[in-house]
Amino acid sequence: MFVQKFTIKRYSLLQNTLKKRQLTSYIPPKVRAITFNKHGPPTEVLRAVTYQLPPLTPTSLHLKFLASPINPSDINQIEGVYPIKPNFKTLGEHEKIAVAGNEGVAQVIGIGDKVEDLKVGDWVVMGKSAFGTWRTHAEATLDDVIRIPHEGIGIVKAATLTVNPCSAYRMLKDFAALKEGDFVIQNGANSGVGQAVIQIAKAWNINTINIIRDRPNFQELKDYLKSIGATYVISDKDLQAKNYEFEWNKDIGGKGIALGLNCVSGKGVISMAKLLRHSSSLVTYGAMSRQPLTIPASLLIFQNLKFFGFWMARWGNENPRSKRIEMLNDIIELFKQDKLKDVICEENIWGVNDKDDDDVLTRNFLEIFKKAVEEFRGKKQLIKMI
Ligand SMILES: NC(=O)c1ccc[n+]([C@@H]2O[C@H](COP(=O)([O-])OP(=O)(O)OC[C@H]3O[C@@H](n4cnc5c(N)ncnc54)[C@H](OP(=O)(O)O)[C@@H]3O)[C@@H](O)[C@H]2O)c1
Repeated sequence: MFVQKFTIKRYSLLQNTLKKRQLTSYIPPKVRAITFNKHGPPTEVLRAVTYQLPPLTPTSLHLKFLASPINPSDINQIEGVYPIKPNFKTLGEHEKIAVAGNEGVAQVIGIGDKVEDLKVGDWVVMGKSAFGTWRTHAEATLDDVIRIPHEGIGIVKAATLTVNPCSAYRMLKDFAALKEGDFVIQNGANSGVGQAVIQIAKAWNINTINIIRDRPNFQELKDYLKSIGATYVISDKDLQAKNYEFEWNKDIGGKGIALGLNCVSGKGVISMAKLLRHSSSLVTYGAMSRQPLTIPASLLIFQNLKFFGFWMARWGNENPRSKRIEMLNDIIELFKQDKLKDVICEENIWGVNDKDDDDVLTRNFLEIFKKAVEEFRGKKQLIKMI
């Protein structure tokens, strides 16, 4: 008993010494960040700044970002049309600026001596929106982050884990009691969310009918979506053609389609909603067409369709952290089983060259940004900071 107590005491003394040693030999790095000081078109308001990370406090963490994606909601947030506003504050000598970006994966590089639940080397994702992930380093608290068991999953998966796969997972779970063999229809099927819907549905033995915009390389994209588990893929043009005989009709039989997921909005949604079975739900989570959602009254009156909106940030606010962690673990498990692959993306190394001044970093970032808003590019842009 005495030996055991003595060993535990010595072990914790050793841990404290290690922690202290880590603190004294540790010099906080310089941060390179993409920021804005007012809302507006991203190409006009974004600029790179450099500042020194403040020293660690007993309860703070220092993070090194590994990679962050450029998501549509990041763009809306910079423009000022996203409901979650960034926190404009002083960073180094720069007053009232906000760091852009909401999603990403970072590695813990420093911990205050009162932080118990993390260690240097751990990978973390953001616990909330608006953290500011387009930067090389950041100061954080334990509350800002969630540790992920990253062994066996790469940087791309970890950096794009919290928004799109989580949205797909929730929408497939929360709006219909889907059974194996059921059919779900979605537009924007090649989006990050759409690709996650296809793969999670496939893992749960649910069929997907996937609408994508017509394009010169339609067949190539169709083949890709089928390779990751899409049951059917159709172009928006063919879906709207009145005389089109849908190839899935014989498979579905009398069951009808159990759930619709809308990424695009606009008038095009009518053709998709008309295919839904009586009393089922259409969930709107995006408006990529930037058009209002148009729905004929008959679909409500005679078909009794139910129309819902989904927002991951609201789900996060309304549910305990433990439920979020449970969902992340389920998704990470799908990653590890290779049932959920890397989203199609282009990796752009940014912010790693000390010799680049802020003007160069701004220009480099805007080049990446322009690719993110190009139509039919079909790839998510990822900033890699290593
Ligand atoms: N509500 C939520 O919680 C939540 C969560 C995640 C995402 N979202 C929203 O979901 C949408 C997709 O996000 P993401 O990260 O998956 O996007 P993403 O990977 O960047 O893909 C964008 C998608 O939008 C399509 N698109 C672009 N411009 C279009 C237009 N004018 N008309 C029709 N389709 C267009 C693209 O298709 P092409 O290849 O044909 O260009 C692509 O399928 C966004 O609106 C985003 O804000 C919402």
